[in-house]
Amino acid sequence: MKKSDVIQSILKNYVNSLPHHNTVTAFAPSNIALCKYWGKRNQEINLPVTSSLSISLGKTGATTTLTMNETLADTIFLNNQLMDETSEFSKKIINFINLFRQTSGPYFDIQLQSDIPIAAGLASSACGFAALVLALNNLYQWNLSLQELSILARLGSGSAARSLWQGFVEWHAGVRDDGMDSFAEPIPVVWPELCMGLLIVSDKEKKVSSREAMQRTVLTSPFYSVWPKKVNDDLVLLKEAIKDKNFVLLGQTSESNALAMHATMQTASPSIMYSLPETILAMQKVWQLRKEGMIIYFTQDAGPNLKLLFLQNDISLIQHAFPQLKILQPFI
Ligand code: PMV
Repeated sequence: MKKSDVIQSILKNYVNSLPHHNTVTAFAPSNIALCKYWGKRNQEINLPVTSSLSISLGKTGATTTLTMNETLADTIFLNNQLMDETSEFSKKIINFINLFRQTSGPYFDIQLQSDIPIAAGLASSACGFAALVLALNNLYQWNLSLQELSILARLGSGSAARSLWQGFVEWHAGVRDDGMDSFAEPIPVVWPELCMGLLIVSDKEKKVSSREAMQRTVLTSPFYSVWPKKVNDDLVLLKEAIKDKNFVLLGQTSESNALAMHATMQTASPSIMYSLPETILAMQKVWQLRKEGMIIYFTQDAGPNLKLLFLQNDISLIQHAFPQLKILQPFI
């Protein structure tokens, strides 16, 4: 099964259709998984081993503008800076757009505005690919459902499947080889008091991509075999926590899930350690604050930065403990 087969079965007679507009703009929110996607059952079309559950970050995300140009090449600007077309970043985007057009074009000036550092474990690729798919849907007037767009976004980056909605989102792993049942869906619960703080320890690009780290973990970690059961248990707990607005259960489960994911990669061969000394210090600070009675938890993705989870009532206490924290209120 190739990416082009998936696209063919979703777009049908829209494949190779012509643009309806000269320029389009789309936004998609960043999302942070509370129960992580870690490991693929199909590398080509990004089919996950397990389901996952995330929360989207409201207005924080990526905005993509596609403007048709008259040349035979795409030009990419990231936050108004021209990107080298041979960079990994540009190649990923161009290869993705190539899936949807003929070699004769059209080609675009692609403006990407990202609110978050790229490739630093802050889900920049998720919102980037989701915004790109939304922009293409507008440009070609495919009129696809969000479920179909979720499948297309998944082809760019797995976690992008979850970036088409706000709030809590579950990505169903699916069982089919063609991945047509592997898409995300929103969980209709609004929890305005819920806050997330981005604790940026380093915004440098990571040395090992999440794609490579996942594959190495699946192939070599002796702990990977217990990961699917851990995810299934955590998904049950998280859904219960969301339904009952039980913040302690949500925080405990999210933190435990992130630590388990990192345990699988630390025991891969060669080991993968995204944490920096500052990451560990921040974790210890969270644990110490919790001992002192503060209700605060963290989660961590494929990078050294932490995302802190807490409730609105505690904003000033948390701000005092972590003055550099970027606080987001996903539901406000
Ligand atoms: O979508 P990718 O290939 O960037 O992988 C995302 C992996 C994690 O962020 C670590 C987990 C997740 O579910 O978002």
